[in-house]
Amino acid sequence: MNVFIVTGASRGLGNAIARKLVDKKNYLLCISRKTDESLVKYASERQCKLSFYEYDLSNVSEIEKLMDTIFDKLNLKEVESISLINNAGTLSPIKPIEKCKDTEIIGNIHVNLIAPIVLTSSFIRNLNSFKGDKRVINISSGAGKKPLYGWSNYCASKAGLDLFTQCVGLEQNTYSNTVKIVSLAPGIMDTKMQEEIRKTEKEDFQQVEKFIDYKKNGNLLPTDYVAEKVIKLLSDKEFIQGGVIDVRDME
Ligand SMILES: NC(=O)c1ccc[n+]([C@@H]2O[C@H](COP(=O)([O-])OP(=O)(O)OC[C@H]3O[C@@H](n4cnc5c(N)ncnc54)[C@H](OP(=O)(O)O)[C@@H]3O)[C@@H](O)[C@H]2O)c1
Repeated sequence: MNVFIVTGASRGLGNAIARKLVDKKNYLLCISRKTDESLVKYASERQCKLSFYEYDLSNVSEIEKLMDTIFDKLNLKEVESISLINNAGTLSPIKPIEKCKDTEIIGNIHVNLIAPIVLTSSFIRNLNSFKGDKRVINISSGAGKKPLYGWSNYCASKAGLDLFTQCVGLEQNTYSNTVKIVSLAPGIMDTKMQEEIRKTEKEDFQQVEKFIDYKKNGNLLPTDYVAEKVIKLLSDKEFIQGGVIDVRDME
C-alpha cells in the first residue's frame, strides 16, 4: 500500500492531486477544514481507502496530536511508500502590512509556514525506522522569490518554506534512511485563490489588473496539469534532494 497525506484536499490543487491518487493500492489521508464529499464518494466507488480530517491548520499546537492519530491508524508493515504533500495555503491578508491585524498575520504564517514545518517534523520522526520510500512535497510559490505589493505575509511564508526545504534536504542527505523533500512552485492556477486575488482593491494590490488579465487571456494553469507534475515528483527515481523547483521548468 502507498500512503499519501494531502493537506488542503477540499478544493483547488490539493483536490486535483487527491483525485489523481485515487487507486485501490493507495490510502489517502486528507486534511482541510471542510470535507469534499464528492471526493469521498469518488474514492469509495473505486475501492480506495480515504480518510478526511476536518482540521484548521492555523491551530498549530494540535498538529502533532493530529499526526499521532494518523500514524496510530497506520500499520507501517503494510506500507511500501508514504508521502506528505504540504499543499494547504492562504493568501489573505492581501494589503500593506500596516493595515493587517495581528490575528491575520499570525493566521497566514501559521497555515503557510508553521503548519508545514510541524507536519514535516512529525512525519520524519514517525517514520524514523520505516525503510520504504518517503517523500515530502512542499507547495510553495513564485511569490516566495520576488516581492509583491500587499503580499508581504504570503511572500515571506513561501520564501521561508523554500529555505526550510533546503535545510531539511541538507540534513536528510547525511542519513542513510532518507526522507526526500522538495519545494514546488505550481505556477499560476485557476483556483479559488486566484478568484480572491481578482477581487482585491487596487490600493491593496497594485498588480490586480495583471491578474484579471491572466484569467481573461486564458493564462491560468489547470490544476489537473499541475497535479500530474506533483504525481511525477512522488514517483520519480531522480529527485533533487532539498530542491526548490518551478512547475514551469518541469518536462
Ligand atoms: N492558485 C495559484 O495561482 C497559486 C500560485 C502559487 C502557489 N499556490 C499555492 O498552491 C497551493 C494550493 O492553492 P490553491 O490555489 O489550490 O488554493 P485554494 O483553491 O484556495 O485551496 C486552498 C486549500 O487549502 C486549504 N486551507 C486553507 N486554509 C486552511 C486552514 N486554515 N486549515 C486547513 N486547510 C486550509 C483549503 O481547505 P479548507 O478551506 O476546506 O480548509 C483548500 O483545500 C497553496 O499552497 C498556494 O499557496 C497557488
